[in-house]
Amino acid sequence: EILGFRIPAFFVYGSQGPELLCDFITNFQTKSDDVFIVSYPKSGTTWMQEIIWQIYNNGENTSKNIFERVPFLEFSTSPILGEFADIAKVPSPRLMKSHLSYSIIPKGSSDGAKCKYIYIARNPKDVAVSYFHFTVSLRSFGNGYNGPWEFFSKLFIDGNVGWNKWNDHVQGWWKHKDDPNVLFLKYEDLKKDLPSQVRLTANFLNKPLSEDIINRIAEQCSFNGMTKDLSRYTVRFNEGQTSILRKGVVGDWKNYFTPELNERFEKEVLSKIEGTGLEFDFEL
Ligand code: A3P
Repeated sequence: EILGFRIPAFFVYGSQGPELLCDFITNFQTKSDDVFIVSYPKSGTTWMQEIIWQIYNNGENTSKNIFERVPFLEFSTSPILGEFADIAKVPSPRLMKSHLSYSIIPKGSSDGAKCKYIYIARNPKDVAVSYFHFTVSLRSFGNGYNGPWEFFSKLFIDGNVGWNKWNDHVQGWWKHKDDPNVLFLKYEDLKKDLPSQVRLTANFLNKPLSEDIINRIAEQCSFNGMTKDLSRYTVRFNEGQTSILRKGVVGDWKNYFTPELNERFEKEVLSKIEGTGLEFDFEL
């Protein structure tokens, strides 16, 4: 655990690993032009990383791996960075990915100006299914999950997975959705109307773009657009590799949820967001 978070062991190799990462996060100095793309795992983080990178690059397309372009905060102290960019070396404006909760994500900046946070949330049933597949695929890193979906779904509900409970994470950020430096987005809205979400994001970042460029970004960042070059979204280090792009749909949970699991999910996950104003589409 790092600052109360479960973080996969391969992020923090060695006995000094957890302490190193903890110090790094606690002492991280933000800059006013920093942009954090934040999420609970498997909510469309990579999708947003690609969109925001293209917004900053006027719709340019590149074959460079996304993890080289947009570094992952919690991976920064890993001795096996591999293709992951080193935050210390990326030029400003720094676009960074993080799965940290609102309470512990770096906020302080020496010049007093605030950096920006773009949070992406996804309906938790699809998150759980996506997380299961990803965790299983991490076996190729020698650090994956071996069990069945039935068991994983319970680990997920109880928050016994990397970055803890979905509810706590999403609700913590939802409370700040109206902060001027926070933009709260949903995966399902991106699926429904990508150009309008790209426009919203670009305006939030003070990077208004022409309709041509917005449409180009939406096309390049559609699931079909992104699957044209899967190598950009492949995580590789040591001997292992896995792809971030899998199915990219809303409603895959229906292929995995039994009526019993659905009931438990409604009771232990969804009932907790009732009354908060936070709602999700579970099918489109
Ligand atoms: P699935 O496993 O359901 O397919 P993250 O980047 O946070 O790890 O999230 C990964 C999920 O986002 C995967 O979900 C992946 O397929 C989906 N995703 C990535 N790019 C996407 C895109 N352009 N359109 C739709 N879904 C996308």
